[in-house]
Amino acid sequence: MGDEAKHDAWTAGQSYEAYMGRWSRQVAAAFLARLDAPAGADWVELGCGTGALTAAVLAAGAPRSLVAVDPSEDFLAAARAAVPDPRVRFERGQAGALPAADATIDVAVSGLVLNFVPDRPAALADLLRALRPGGWLAFYVWDYAGGGLEFVDRFWKAAAELDPAAAALDEARRFPFTTRHAIAAECAAAGFDDVGVEPVEIATVFADFADFWTPFTLGAGPAPGYCASLAPERRAALRERLEGRLGSGPIAMGARAWAARGQASS
Ligand SMILES: C[S@@+](CC[C@H](N)C(=O)[O-])C[C@H]1O[C@@H](n2cnc3c(N)ncnc32)[C@H](O)[C@@H]1O
Repeated sequence: MGDEAKHDAWTAGQSYEAYMGRWSRQVAAAFLARLDAPAGADWVELGCGTGALTAAVLAAGAPRSLVAVDPSEDFLAAARAAVPDPRVRFERGQAGALPAADATIDVAVSGLVLNFVPDRPAALADLLRALRPGGWLAFYVWDYAGGGLEFVDRFWKAAAELDPAAAALDEARRFPFTTRHAIAAECAAAGFDDVGVEPVEIATVFADFADFWTPFTLGAGPAPGYCASLAPERRAALRERLEGRLGSGPIAMGARAWAARGQASS
């Protein structure tokens, strides 16, 4: 893993909720609404975090079983508390080593994770291994590469103006995977059939500038990890630059994810 991942802090479930969880819940619901998965299926979720997509699957997917996997014990503890449901089993684990036997899963899902996974071909191969013939992989990632996650894009652009070293940390640069074309190509290369990639868009509306800024100071996620690492005067300069651009609020921005699906051969 390169140095640019050094701020990818996946701890502190409450901080993550303030920064990303409130938006990931919305995109999870929109994603599930389009999925049209069969009821009574066996699901696995890679990178469940604090349980945003887990809750959406249970609410709208009518699963028989769901194994939700994440490497972060902090996030798993938050997810277990937030999503008490006998159909779900939370397990510590990593991409590439799902706790699922071969060909036992009908639907494999993942929300906002696959761009962070260092060996994505191995992760996709492992997801395919776990699927029954005819089963589906469905996942989504933010459109970082296209600047589609506007609040994060605005943060990194301002940060790089003040600190040239921040440019290498910008998720738009780090994650060339997050284009429609690259996602489709990697899924097809991994062996999935009938690959499709569609946009899912939500609005991210911040009540005022503090509502926009405060989550960046809490340290959970790449941009907050960077922000929390800054000396107080540099953090204040970044805050001032962003507030000068965005005003005191409310602040309405857009957020686009790419939702992909692919099928295991029957
Ligand atoms: C942006 S969060 C998304 C969490 C949740 N799915 C959501 O939509 O809110 C990224 C998640 O990926 C997990 N993650 C990071 N690297 C991973 C890996 N190699 N394998 C599995 N999960 C990973 C993190 O622990 C974190 O929970």
